[in-house]
Amino acid sequence: MTQEPNREMERRMTDKPEQPERGRRSFMKKIWLILGFVALAEFLCFIISLLRPSKETHKSIPAESLRVIGNVEEFPAGSVTPDRVNRLYIVREKDGAFLALSLTCPHLGCSVLWNEESQQFDCPCHSSAFDRRGIVLSSPAPRPLDYLPVIIEEGKVKVDMTGVTRRKRFEPSQLTYAL
Ligand code: FES
Repeated sequence: MTQEPNREMERRMTDKPEQPERGRRSFMKKIWLILGFVALAEFLCFIISLLRPSKETHKSIPAESLRVIGNVEEFPAGSVTPDRVNRLYIVREKDGAFLALSLTCPHLGCSVLWNEESQQFDCPCHSSAFDRRGIVLSSPAPRPLDYLPVIIEEGKVKVDMTGVTRRKRFEPSQLTYAL
């Protein structure tokens, strides 16, 4: 007779803590679930930002320093086109890449001329010569023709006039491809 109340008491003592424990576990489950959703959403946003074509690539270039030189189709593959107003040449590689070269000779500042026949730039002042990528073929020019960054936007070839860059050699990173 006395054992029954004892058992009942034992049961209560062991049962009581289970209620809050179960509640805590379910609360933690909910927290993990929410954190999981947040992490998944952030991951998806990251993937989307990688896949989306960036319109802000050239955001740092002020619009007033970008000069529209022409439409992409105006520059056939393999061509070299002078732009005397902006004092530059637009070189289009056979694979379609663009390169903008300064028209100013790095020796003493004369204007170089493109020679279609010999496929090189000649300086009329002291006979320096440069290949179609502006690399020195004959001195006294101390370095290649300077290059300017080309940007292709909405089918237009634009040049960053503030980006005139001295260089020691040609590097593929100087080329811009139309998408
Ligand atoms: S200015 Fe061009 S070679 Fe002297």
